[in-house]
Amino acid sequence: MEKKEVVEVLKWFSDMGVSDILETNFSRPSSNKISTLAELKEAMAKVDISIKHCATNMVFGMGNTKADILLLGEAPGAEEDKQGLPFVGQSGQLLDKVLADIGLDRTKVYITNILPWRPPGNRTPNTQEVALFRPYVLKHISLINPKVVVCLGGTSTKALLQTTDGIMKLHGRWTTTKGISAKIMPTFHPAYLLRSPSQKREFWRDFLLVREEISTDQVN
Ligand code: URA
Repeated sequence: MEKKEVVEVLKWFSDMGVSDILETNFSRPSSNKISTLAELKEAMAKVDISIKHCATNMVFGMGNTKADILLLGEAPGAEEDKQGLPFVGQSGQLLDKVLADIGLDRTKVYITNILPWRPPGNRTPNTQEVALFRPYVLKHISLINPKVVVCLGGTSTKALLQTTDGIMKLHGRWTTTKGISAKIMPTFHPAYLLRSPSQKREFWRDFLLVREEISTDQVN
């Protein structure tokens, strides 16, 4: 088989969601010398990863770059991919409601994801993709320098904390991780709450803890 044909076959597998095998030769610009969000965005756009070829837009982040609260999601969905912005679909609407409940909105928080590209078919990011982008996530957090990082869902929690513990166990309790000065609050992913509305109360409670941590007059 010609090399070109092999690549086509692998791309087909990737479109089907079996992309792990494509990432064995990925290339990634170093995150070490990055000192601005613009530089970070440029470096992330250069990452050679198969899922980007299936996506429409890179979703970098949005919101207040001086925020005390950074919300960390998993990866863009269909609507986010279309608009190039995080949490603008159904999950985002639920997130906005909870933020409003605790007196916050998108002008007071910063939102980004573990992966900037939508995985085909909205599958969960795989281990290699997470490992590839984790240094950029850490850099993103350090450039925003929030007091609190809220991990939305098991994937972002596991990726940031490098743990195998599940979200049911970890949510609602403050934690920390090496390389980040902010306190970390793991909670549920809004998409999970759309499927399991009975957990919304817990989600809301977790956000109340975040609210308590950042008193009203201190919120940027
Ligand atoms: N789900 C995520 O984790 N991130 C988004 O931006 C949208 C949906």
